[in-house]
Amino acid sequence: MSSETLHAPRDRLSRETIDAHQAIVSLMEELDAVDWYQQRADDCDDPALKEILLHNMREEVEHAAMLLEWLRRHSAVFDRELRARLFTDDPIAADGEEGPAPAPSRPAAPRGFTIGTMKEAP
Ligand SMILES: [Fe+2]
Repeated sequence: MSSETLHAPRDRLSRETIDAHQAIVSLMEELDAVDWYQQRADDCDDPALKEILLHNMREEVEHAAMLLEWLRRHSAVFDRELRARLFTDDPIAADGEEGPAPAPSRPAAPRGFTIGTMKEAP
């Protein structure tokens, strides 16, 4: 198993960093696929094909969401930021420039490890 997008020698990376890298690269690929399918659907004149493309786009969103959840479960930083910023009507950029996001309102999920340089206390 290898990746063309590692930015440091593989033998200097922790297992956790490599796992996070695989999740992040996969998330990027899923979001690319969402964008591609959306654009193709917009550009498609055949109604049946358009519906297939939109169906596929929705499945890519599901895949992206699963990867984001994996990252949340394995990174204290992702966990804290997603808990602070998702599913709220607060301004999206609130607290973005002033410092760290507020502490989560509920306890963080159990974590087996944190991700490389993002390691910090919740
Ligand atoms: Fe996918």
